[in-house]
Amino acid sequence: MSASRIPVAVLGATGSVGQRFIQLLANHPWFEVAELVASDRSTGKRYAEATEWRLDSDMPAGAADLVVKDYGEELGSPVAFSALPGEVAGEIEQRLAKAGHAVLSNSSTHRMEPDVPLMIAEVNPESVAAIETQKANRGWSGYIVTNGNCSAIHLTLTLKPLHDAFGLDAVMVTTMQAVSGAGYPGVPSLDMIDNVVPFISTEEEKMAEEARKFLGTWDGQFRQGDFVVSASCNRVPVRDGHTEAVSVRFRRQTSVDEVREALASFRGKPQELELPSAPNRPIVVRSERNRPQPVLDRDCEKGMASVVGRVRECPILGIKYTLLGHNTIRGAAGASILNAELLKVEGLLPDYDHSSGRLVAGAAVPA
Ligand SMILES: NC(=O)c1ccc[n+]([C@@H]2O[C@H](COP(=O)([O-])OP(=O)(O)OC[C@H]3O[C@@H](n4cnc5c(N)ncnc54)[C@H](OP(=O)(O)O)[C@@H]3O)[C@@H](O)[C@H]2O)c1
Repeated sequence: MSASRIPVAVLGATGSVGQRFIQLLANHPWFEVAELVASDRSTGKRYAEATEWRLDSDMPAGAADLVVKDYGEELGSPVAFSALPGEVAGEIEQRLAKAGHAVLSNSSTHRMEPDVPLMIAEVNPESVAAIETQKANRGWSGYIVTNGNCSAIHLTLTLKPLHDAFGLDAVMVTTMQAVSGAGYPGVPSLDMIDNVVPFISTEEEKMAEEARKFLGTWDGQFRQGDFVVSASCNRVPVRDGHTEAVSVRFRRQTSVDEVREALASFRGKPQELELPSAPNRPIVVRSERNRPQPVLDRDCEKGMASVVGRVRECPILGIKYTLLGHNTIRGAAGASILNAELLKVEGLLPDYDHSSGRLVAGAAVPA
């Protein structure tokens, strides 16, 4: 274990999002994977034995030999990245936050709770202010910060500069979501080949309510953004990368050129701070008439950008465009890692004693 890097745990390390964490954290300048946790199907095995590795790079050597831990075991890492299924995330994440860990979750369980930040580092970094309230409310020395749903993250990243510049009134979005969004093995192949499935359980509700929390405000409590979202979610036979057709009505008159400029010039705190996982361009605007496409564009900016194309007039709502984003990178593991980098720079990660390998105290709170 390096004396300078912060040890982190990955929960649900063997799954689709868990594997992305392991891949993205290999050679990270600030964090080092120290503990892996998965179900009792995997515990006690070396990670290499427990995991059906499905990414195109090799399994990082540092992770391969780690022995997978049980959820009941005490963890020493100050940061726990969670890629747990919703059914089990609630209790496990709360227990770790209570024990002093910073839990960065991808599960939907805690996202809409009134004292839990639902954060995209470029969109609402100010929501870390809720951490202090959360700790006080619950008597925890650690805390939970959540990612959004993978489609909601990409939608909201593109809406943020438009909301700031023109004011959102109404958003209509139709998604074409990759199969990897359902985890592994996910949707049976016979339901997916030659087919589109026009239903993803609870996805439409999540997109609507999470976009409004992301783009709302915090003044001691979260207040939802004042706009409506209507979402239609579909599963399509694409491996990685969610595509979304978006129409927007703004409060102020605007043009296609102004919308393109607002999207392309958007930068946030991660870019300002030059965080290690920050893409140079969080939104990439393409001008070809047939882009973005999953196969060509999902790895843009190492999977950390939302790629927008076909910005044009909409005769019903005003402006429409198509976006594409990687669901397990910016839509999950990459977004959590970027949030953790921001928390580190803000001085909000729990203290850790390298010599004893233990947490020192709960996370600091903002002054
Ligand atoms: N896939 C995406 O694109 C995406 C995007 C955003 C958010 N998310 C969210 O991220 C989380 C993980 O999704 P995923 O797609 O990675 O799922 P997944 O591929 O099914 O992986 C689930 C992981 O959790 C473990 N697990 C399963 N059942 C468990 C149980 N009963 N008790 C303890 N551990 C259990 C598995 O361990 P074993 O291998 O040992 O069984 C595996 O490591 C979910 O909350 C999901 O909603 C996913």
